[in-house]
Amino acid sequence: MKLVKFSLIIVCFLAISCSKKEENQTILSSPDSNIKVEFSLNLNGEPIYQVAYKNEEVIKTSTLGFDLKDAPSLKGNFEIISAVPSSFNETWEMPWGEQIEVVNNYNELKVELQEASELKRKLTIVFKVYNDGIGFRYEFPEQENLKEVFITDENTQFNLTGDHKVWWIPGDWDIYEHLYNTTKFSEIDAKSKAGHKNLAQTSIPENAVNTPVTMKTKSGLHLSFHEASLVDYSGMTLKVDTNNLSMTSELVGSDNTDYKVKRTVPFETPWRTIQISEKAGDLIASKLIVNLNEPNKLEDISWFKPTKYTGIWWEMHLGKSSWDMASGKHGATTENAKAFIDFSAKNNIGAVLVEGWNTGWEHWIGFEDREGVFDFVTPYSDYDLKEVVRYGKEKGVEIIMHHETSAATQTYEKQQDTAYALMQSLGIHAVKTGYVGKILPKGEYHHGQYMVNQYNNAVIKAAKYQVAINAHEPIKATGLRRTYPNTISREGLRGQEFNAWSSDGGNPPEHLPIVAFTRMLAGPIDYTPGIFDIKFDKWKKDNQVNTTIAQQLALYVVIYSPVQMAADLIENYEGNPALQFIKDVGVDWQQTKVLNGEIGDFVTIARKEKNSENWFIGGITDENEREMELAFDFLNADDVYEAIIYEDAEDADWDKNPTSLNIRKLEITNTSKELLKLAKGGGFAISLIKK
Ligand code: NOJ
Ligand code: CA
Repeated sequence: MKLVKFSLIIVCFLAISCSKKEENQTILSSPDSNIKVEFSLNLNGEPIYQVAYKNEEVIKTSTLGFDLKDAPSLKGNFEIISAVPSSFNETWEMPWGEQIEVVNNYNELKVELQEASELKRKLTIVFKVYNDGIGFRYEFPEQENLKEVFITDENTQFNLTGDHKVWWIPGDWDIYEHLYNTTKFSEIDAKSKAGHKNLAQTSIPENAVNTPVTMKTKSGLHLSFHEASLVDYSGMTLKVDTNNLSMTSELVGSDNTDYKVKRTVPFETPWRTIQISEKAGDLIASKLIVNLNEPNKLEDISWFKPTKYTGIWWEMHLGKSSWDMASGKHGATTENAKAFIDFSAKNNIGAVLVEGWNTGWEHWIGFEDREGVFDFVTPYSDYDLKEVVRYGKEKGVEIIMHHETSAATQTYEKQQDTAYALMQSLGIHAVKTGYVGKILPKGEYHHGQYMVNQYNNAVIKAAKYQVAINAHEPIKATGLRRTYPNTISREGLRGQEFNAWSSDGGNPPEHLPIVAFTRMLAGPIDYTPGIFDIKFDKWKKDNQVNTTIAQQLALYVVIYSPVQMAADLIENYEGNPALQFIKDVGVDWQQTKVLNGEIGDFVTIARKEKNSENWFIGGITDENEREMELAFDFLNADDVYEAIIYEDAEDADWDKNPTSLNIRKLEITNTSKELLKLAKGGGFAISLIKK
C-alpha cells in the first residue's frame, strides 16, 4: 500500500494527476484528464470545490460542511494541514453482475483540515476522480475535541451551471415508489407529489429529490447525483433551490431525535457521487458506485447462484388469490407451489418465490400494532414447507423464502437468527424481504440511520447463514453489493405491481426508459418483468401493463438483476411461443454493452452470458414508436449466431394491441445489420445462440 502511494505522489509531482494552481488550491484530474476537480478554502476558511468536464464547468464553486448538535458548526475557519494526492488502478471481478471484470482507476486527493480556532477540530475530505465521474466523502479522524458527533445537517452543496433538464422523484423519506418527473431544474416541485394514495407510507417534508437524480445540460452532458457505501448514516436527499439552481444534501431524519446521524469518531460518511458522461448510455455502463465500495468481505458466495424465478405472487396482486389464509383463497398452498416448481423445471427457471406461506397475514397492512404478528418460521397449515423444498430439490428448483416484516423491525430482528437458520437447514439461499407500512418504532423513516442499519445488519447476519437478500421497500442501493455480494437485488422503485392495482393508470410507457438512467445506476432492480396477459381483464378491468409483450421480454436484458422473475401466471405462459425467450435468456453476464439510448425515450442493451458464447439484446421505447438499425459489430469476427428476434408486429401498440408479436429466426454475424421497428410502448428481444 505504501509503495503504491509513494509512486502516485511522484505522478502528482509530474503534474499528471494534480497540480497546485495557487496557494491553497489543488486541482485533481481524472486518469483521462477530462474531469477536473478543484479544491480550496475560501476567505472564511470554508472548504469549497468545483468540477469541470473538458473545460466546461459542471459544478460551480460549492461549499462543504456540517451543523452539529450542542457544538459549533464544522464548516469554516479551517486551515489545510496536508493535501496528499495518490492514484489507484486495479481490476477486480464481480462474483455475479453485469460483467466480470471491473476497472477501478482513479486519482485521489486527501485533504486534512483543522480549525484555526480554539477547538482545533479536524475534518478530512477525500476526493476520487474517475473517468466516469467523481466521489468525495468526509472522514472524521480521532481527535481531542470531537468524540461523539450528532449531525443535524450535512451541507454538501452542488451548485449547478444552468437550468438543466432533470429526471427526478421527490425526496420522500419513506419510499422511492414514485413516478419519475421530467422538468427543468427550476420547475422541480417535490411537495406536489405528497400524499399519493397508492403508497403505504409517504413523507415528503420539503422540496428535495431522492437519488440517483439524473440531468442533461444544454450542452448535452449527462450528470447523475447519488451516494456510495451508505453505512451507519442517514440516506441523503438533495434539497432543491430552484432560484439559485443549487442542491444541498438533506439527510433523512427521525421524529425521535433532534439530530439526523449519531456517530463516534473516527468514522467516514458515504461517498457523494457525480457521474458525468457525454452519451446517456455511458451512465449505465459506469461502475463508479460499486468502485467506491470496499472489496468483498464475504469469503465465499458460491452458494448464491443468479437465477430466473417464478412465484406465487402476481396472482395476489391481481386478486386471484390472497396472502392470508382466512380469505379462503390462500395462494401459498403446497399444491400451488408444486405447480410452479413443475412449470419452472420445464422452462429452465431455477427458483420459485412463495409469498404468504407463513402466519400473520391477517394482520399486516392497515394495522398499527404490527409488532409480534409475523412469524418467519411457522407455515400456514395448508403449506408444507419441508415437502415443497424437498419436491423442488427433486426437480432442480430452489425455493425463495419470503419475509414480509410489515416494517415491524423489532419482531424481524428478534427472529432473524432462527429464520435464517431454518433457511440454511433447508438449503434455501435467498429471501425476499419486505418493509411495507410506517416503520415501527414510530417516528423512524425507511431511509434514516435507524433503517440503514436495519437493512445492512440483516445482510450481514444473513451472510452467516448463507442467505442472500432481495429487499423490497429497501434503502436505495449504494454499491454495497461489492462488499456484501449476498445483497442481490432490491425494489426501491415503482415496480410492476403498480400495473396490477394502482389507481393512477400504472407505470406509463416512459417509466422504464427513465428508470434505466436513474434508479438503475444505483444497482440491481427486482422489477419482476414478463407479464404476457397484458390486459388481464379476467381479473381487473381498470388496470393493465402499459407496454407490449415484446417490451416485457426486452426487460430481461435491459433491467439488470441477478434474480429475474417470470412474474405472470402459469396459465398465461403455457403454450405462448414468447416463453422460449424467457427459457433461453441468461441471468448472469460476462459483458454488457449499451448500444444506444436517450433518457426517457429508448435504450438498447446487449449482454453476453457468463460461461457461454450467447448474447441477448433488449431494446425498449417510450410512448413513441421508432425504428432503429442495429449493428452486431460487437460480436467476434468469425462467429456465426442463430438469432431469434421477438419484435412488435406491425399492428402492435401498448394500449390497442399489446400482445401482437412477431418472432423470426435468422443467421447473424458481426457484419449483420437489422432494422427493428418498436411500437408505441414496445420493444424487442433477441437471443443470439452461437452455432
Ligand atoms: C410489497 C412488495 O413490493 C410486493 O412484491 C410484495 O408482494 C408485497 N409487499 C407483500 O410482501
Ligand atoms: Ca413495493
